[in-house]
Amino acid sequence: MIVTADRPKILLIGCDGQVGWELQRTLGIIGEVVATSLCGGYGPALDLLDRHAVTALIQRIRPDFIINAAAHTAVDKAEAEVELSRQLNAEAPEQLGILAAEQGATLIHYSTDFIFSGKTSKPYREEEATGPLSVYGETKLDGEQRLLASGANALIFRTSWVYGNHGFNFMKTMMRLFKERDQLSVVDDQIGAPTWSRMIAEATAQIVNQLCLDLADSARLQGIYHLTAGGETSWYGFACRIRELMDVECRIQAIPTHEYPTPARRPAYSVLDNTKLEETFGIKMPEWQASLKLCMEDRSH
Ligand SMILES: NC(=O)c1ccc[n+]([C@@H]2O[C@H](COP(=O)([O-])OP(=O)(O)OC[C@H]3O[C@@H](n4cnc5c(N)ncnc54)[C@H](OP(=O)(O)O)[C@@H]3O)[C@@H](O)[C@H]2O)c1
Repeated sequence: MIVTADRPKILLIGCDGQVGWELQRTLGIIGEVVATSLCGGYGPALDLLDRHAVTALIQRIRPDFIINAAAHTAVDKAEAEVELSRQLNAEAPEQLGILAAEQGATLIHYSTDFIFSGKTSKPYREEEATGPLSVYGETKLDGEQRLLASGANALIFRTSWVYGNHGFNFMKTMMRLFKERDQLSVVDDQIGAPTWSRMIAEATAQIVNQLCLDLADSARLQGIYHLTAGGETSWYGFACRIRELMDVECRIQAIPTHEYPTPARRPAYSVLDNTKLEETFGIKMPEWQASLKLCMEDRSH
């Protein structure tokens, strides 16, 4: 990666989440990073629900980039926490957008495959009709729309099935269960692309760097991009690959979604097409199997 001589000031919000954690590591070589989390610890504490604190921090730092990795991501809990989900996933990005527009900052925000209904069998392009099935999906879609209407130079990266060595996720749950149990049942009729949080962070850093180098123009490039690992699998397929890489014995039974009921409905097929990302930024995301292997090797070091 080429690094700019003129280091941009980057405000990272939500640096203790899966993606935020990796962003904090990756962005440091590109710019001056102020990393905030809900409880502080790595930098200033910032509660995205505290609108005055958000405004004051952005006005004080005057960042060139605001990167928002914070969200209400508990998909099942969101069904009962509608208001909190709306505030964090829809109102907060809108406020960040308005502040970014005022300050002339570029805003990078993340969204999800769960804004789609999943009633298809080929990867979704950015412009295809949305149809969220859950409160999480609805509020994330609302956030996208409010952000696009805010007047900010905003880039929204829709990603999917995020895992990594920091935080809570399917990979870590499976790794724990494989050690505790002889057999497991895993859903086999939801198809998506498991995406390593580090790959999201590295792609984001490449894009920030391109924007800084003026190889691209953030006003022209604003909009929605799909940013996921390549390929597709089911949760069952993902679990089988984790087991294979761990080299452990555990019987995995493939089950349909209706045998594992959850409060939130999930799309049956939510693979995203990354062509726009590749054509615009020259970034080709690795296949999910290769990333998973690297992630699990990284864990054992
Ligand atoms: N996880 C996935 O599978 C997935 C899939 C598709 C898209 N995405 C999107 O990708 C982005 C990053 O997701 P992720 O997996 O990294 O999420 P994550 O691990 O759940 O991290 C979200 C972070 O937001 C923080 N947060 C919650 N409430 C906050 C508040 N009021 N103020 C400030 N920070 C707050 C959380 O802090 P605490 O932990 O202290 O509450 C957490 O560190 C999100 O926009 C998400 O919607 C995720």
